[in-house]
Amino acid sequence: METLSHDIIIIGAGIAGLRAAIAAAQFNKIDVAVVSKVYPVRSHSVCAQGGTGAVLRDGDSFDLHAWDTVKGSDFLADQDVVELFVRRAPQEIVALDHWGCPWSRTEDGKINQRRFGGHSFPRACFAADMTGFHEMHVLDGKAKTFDNVKFYDEWFVVSLLVKDKTVAGLTAIDIKTGEMCALRAKAVVMATGGHERIYGFTTFSHTATGDGMTIAYRVGAQLKDMEFIQFHPTGLVPPGVLITEGARGEGGYLLNSKGERFMKRYAPERMELAPRDIIARAEMTEILEGRGLEGPYGHYIALDIRHLGEEKINERLPLIRDVAIKLGGIDPVKEPIPIRPAAHYSMGGIHANIKTETPISGLYAVGECSCMSLHGANRLGTNSTSDCLVFGAIGGEEAAKHAMSKSLIELPNDQVLSSEKRVFDEILGSEGDERVATIRDEMRAIMNDKVWIFRTGDGLMSALKGVKELRERFGKITVDDKSRQFNTGLIGALQLDFTLDLAEVTITSALARTESRGAHSRRDYTKRDDENWLKHTLAYCTKEGPRLEYAPVTIAKWPPTARTY
Ligand code: FUM
Repeated sequence: METLSHDIIIIGAGIAGLRAAIAAAQFNKIDVAVVSKVYPVRSHSVCAQGGTGAVLRDGDSFDLHAWDTVKGSDFLADQDVVELFVRRAPQEIVALDHWGCPWSRTEDGKINQRRFGGHSFPRACFAADMTGFHEMHVLDGKAKTFDNVKFYDEWFVVSLLVKDKTVAGLTAIDIKTGEMCALRAKAVVMATGGHERIYGFTTFSHTATGDGMTIAYRVGAQLKDMEFIQFHPTGLVPPGVLITEGARGEGGYLLNSKGERFMKRYAPERMELAPRDIIARAEMTEILEGRGLEGPYGHYIALDIRHLGEEKINERLPLIRDVAIKLGGIDPVKEPIPIRPAAHYSMGGIHANIKTETPISGLYAVGECSCMSLHGANRLGTNSTSDCLVFGAIGGEEAAKHAMSKSLIELPNDQVLSSEKRVFDEILGSEGDERVATIRDEMRAIMNDKVWIFRTGDGLMSALKGVKELRERFGKITVDDKSRQFNTGLIGALQLDFTLDLAEVTITSALARTESRGAHSRRDYTKRDDENWLKHTLAYCTKEGPRLEYAPVTIAKWPPTARTY
C-alpha cells in the first residue's frame, strides 16, 4: 500500500475544512492536505442559504448576539465558547468580503443583514439565498492560491491511525482507482459535517453521513450531545430540500389549514422568527391536532411569501423560488409553499475544547462534525456558517502550531492492515443476502418514526432495538459490484456502516436524557430539568455499544432562566 505524508491533513472540504486549510497555509509554509470524498464545491456547505450571523452594526452588540445564542441553546451552550465566537465572527465576514464574496448590499453599499429566528437584531449577512454557495466558491478559490495546499478530491477516508492517544495518520480510498493509501500527518483536522442522513426526511445532501464523527469515535474520541438534532421548520414537501428561514426573515408567514398564523399561540412576540425548535414543535402540534393541510405527500404547513411580491422574491429569494417550482411544483409568487419540519443539523459532534482540540493529541474537530459546545441544545439559524468560519480558522491555526512542534510518528501497521481487511474482506468481500439500500431505508424509517421531534422512552427503546438488529444484518450484506474503480456501492456500504453507529449513539443519548431541552423533546419528561440535566452527554465507543458519561456546562454571564419568545 502506498504511504503519503503531510504536516496537516484536513478531512472535508466544506466551509469549515476550506477555512481551516487557508488558516493553516497562511500560518506558516507548512505542508497541508485536504482530503474530501467529493469535489470541494459539491460539499454540503454549498446548500447553506439564508445567511451568516455576525455583529456589524451600531445597535447590535457582542453581548446581544451571545445572549441570543445562549438563550436559543436552552442554556446548554458553553458560554466561553459563545463569547469567543461572537467576537471573531465579524472579522470572518470582512475576510470573505476581501476575498470576493458577493454579499448582498444596502443602497449605501454596506453588507446587508436580514432578520433570522431567535436573533434580536438583523445580523444575517447574506448573498441572496445562496450564501453557502458563494462562500464556498470564495474559499475554494482562495485555498487554491496556496502552493502548500494539496487537494485529494474524491478520496474517501476510512479510519484514523492513532498510537498512544496520538494521531499518526489515516487510511483513505482513492475512489477513482479504488486503491487504499495510508497518509501520515502530525495533525488531522476533522471537518466532515453532520449526519442528518440517518433520517429520511432531511434538508441534507446524500453525502451527509457523518463519517468523521464515527471515525473519531471508533478511535477513542467522545461524541458529545448527540441527542440534540435540529429540525428545520421549512423542509420542502415532498423532497425535504431546504426552504430558507430567510423567507420568514424577509416577512413570510406560516399558515395552518384554517389560514391562521398559528405561531401566535406558541411564540406571540417572535411569531415566525422564534427559534427553530419552537417552530418545529408548533408545526408538528398543528399537524397532530388536525390543523395541517393535506396533500398527495401527507400533511403539511403552508409558507406564504406571496405578499412580498415578485420583485423582492426574485431579488432576495431566487433560489427558493426556483427550487419550489422545480421540486415542489408550485410558484411561490402565486401559491404558498408546502413545507414541514426536516432533520437539518446536529448540535452534537466530536467533543472538542474551545481551541478545537479533541482528547486525542493532534486531532482537531471543526464545523458541524464537532461539538465544543457553541449551540447547546438548539442552534440559531446563521450561527452554523459563522461557526464553520470562526472555528475552521481557529482549528487550522491550532493544527499548524501543533504540527510545527511535532514530528511524524510511526504508523501503526496493525491498524493499517485491519482497515484494509475491514473494507475489502469484511465489507466488499461479504456474500450475504442483505441489501445496503434496504438496511439504510429501514434505519431512516426508524429514525423518522421514533427519534423525531417528539420522543418517548418506549419509542426510543424500540428504535434502539431496531438499529441493533440492522447492525447485525449489516454483517450479511452483499455489494454486487466487486470491482475497485469508482465503486459507489462500496462507498454506500461504508457510509451505512458509519451512520448505523451514529444512529445508535443518537438514540442511546436521547433515551438517557429524561428531560425536554431545546430540540430534544420528550413526551414523558416534558420539562427542562436543570437540577439533573444541565450537563453535556459524552458517548464513548465500547464493544457493547455507547457508554455515557456527563460533563459540566460552562456558565459565565447567564444562569438558566425561563425561555419564552
Ligand atoms: O434557513 C436557512 O437558510 C438555514 C440556515 C442555517 O441553518 O443556519
